[in-house]
Amino acid sequence: MQDNTKITEMETEGGELDAARAVRADFAARSLVGDKAPGYYIQTLGCQQNEADSERLAGLAELMGYRRVCDPNDARLILVNTCAIREHAEARALSFIGEYKHVREEHPDTVIGVGGCMVTQRHRADKLKMSYPYVNFTFDTGALHKLPFLVKQAIEKGSRRFVISDEYDIVEGLPVSRTSKHSAWLPIMYGCNNFCSYCIVPYVRGRERSRREEDILNEAELLIADGAREITLLGQNVNSYGNGAEDSSNIAELMRKICALDGDFRLRFMTSHPKDASDELLRAVAEEEKIVKHFHLPVQSGSDDVLRRMNRKYTSGHYLGIVEKLRALCPDISLTTDIIVGFPGETEEDFEATLELLRRVRYDMIFSFIYSPRKGTPAAEMEGAVPAEVSKERFARLTTLQDEISRERNERFIGRKVRLLAGEVSKNDSNMLTGRGDMARPVHFAGDASLVGSFVNVKITSCGAYNLEGELI
Ligand code: 5AD
Ligand code: SF4
Repeated sequence: MQDNTKITEMETEGGELDAARAVRADFAARSLVGDKAPGYYIQTLGCQQNEADSERLAGLAELMGYRRVCDPNDARLILVNTCAIREHAEARALSFIGEYKHVREEHPDTVIGVGGCMVTQRHRADKLKMSYPYVNFTFDTGALHKLPFLVKQAIEKGSRRFVISDEYDIVEGLPVSRTSKHSAWLPIMYGCNNFCSYCIVPYVRGRERSRREEDILNEAELLIADGAREITLLGQNVNSYGNGAEDSSNIAELMRKICALDGDFRLRFMTSHPKDASDELLRAVAEEEKIVKHFHLPVQSGSDDVLRRMNRKYTSGHYLGIVEKLRALCPDISLTTDIIVGFPGETEEDFEATLELLRRVRYDMIFSFIYSPRKGTPAAEMEGAVPAEVSKERFARLTTLQDEISRERNERFIGRKVRLLAGEVSKNDSNMLTGRGDMARPVHFAGDASLVGSFVNVKITSCGAYNLEGELI
């Protein structure tokens, strides 16, 4: 639990950074520096937490003397950061790992490591060990910091290690190589205690543990100084940030303290569990100017019976009460959610209750998923599997209804002037930029690439269900 959490300072324990420096020194001795430095490539699957973890893996790889490359064929260190949330995510990870076999065949000195949620399950780590002989090592979600040791041993001894450490300490001080200068992930807590009956996360990311407030504030300051214009606080359940820890506050206080830091930036947070969405948090979101007016509040189902079997610990009535409070405090807030269709035993009536909830809440956007049984979770043992055709048909009905609602919600922005963070140049048209603001969907507008990373004012001119369009003012 929280108060037993050991916070490890990177430089003081274990010599992990020494291992990284030793690899670097070895490369330097062989003149493998600068353009000649060996490449590293990280394939990341899954959620933002994994993206944040990959930025730390990249930081460690660079400390070891590797240089980032865009093509795995050019990499002598390939890492796959896996996800286990649904079967499809695991299948994708295995397919990527399969593709890297030929890299090893062509370049026998390539080191291949697999981390993340998939390989934190014993049966998956064992499978990789037995059936993927070219994989050098796996490292579980609590063992990111072991990367330099694992790489060093693989290079020096050709050894294979499949780590399931069960250590879920917080390791502070890992180097971070961020993928975006203006948009930053900031993990504030790790793990989950909720054990929703369908979810693998508590088994692969351990119990809830929060970072010290001081460490988070220091990192936020560094990010802002380094050009971050958007900071997203991350955790499996950020609403329970600080529970039980002496040197942490709660999520609302933490966000207010971050907002009080100097600088022109916006603050986002995810993910929230409805049972822990306190009034204090709702007020902070409504009142703090720097907090983006967007709340992601996963509901999963509109049926109380399904919610009970999902072990969600709230009813649809309680959930609607939170939405009502939030809208009273902040009428224009953008609301998004996660929905699972085809949970075991879900009847047509249960599903209708989900559609009805969508009609009542009128979300700006939903993330919907077909239930995927996860080995070791209670729901995987439940009776009443919903046939795939039924789940697919429900999924399609859900999407049709939500598309209509999303379009209507997006329309409220037409004619408004909005402030956006210009995020990236469009992949299809180099004269178009994509920006993000309070709306759940991205806004496309014509603009010069030099604007990327700065705030711009845009007038919204049109929209569809999936995006909005505007003009620079
Ligand atoms: N099957 C389908 N969707 C799932 N999610 C979590 N576990 C499963 C599962 N076994 C969804 C939930 C969660 C989101 C991140 O993924 O909706 O909120
Ligand atoms: Fe999974 Fe539930 Fe924890 Fe979210 S709150 S990570 S859905 S167990």
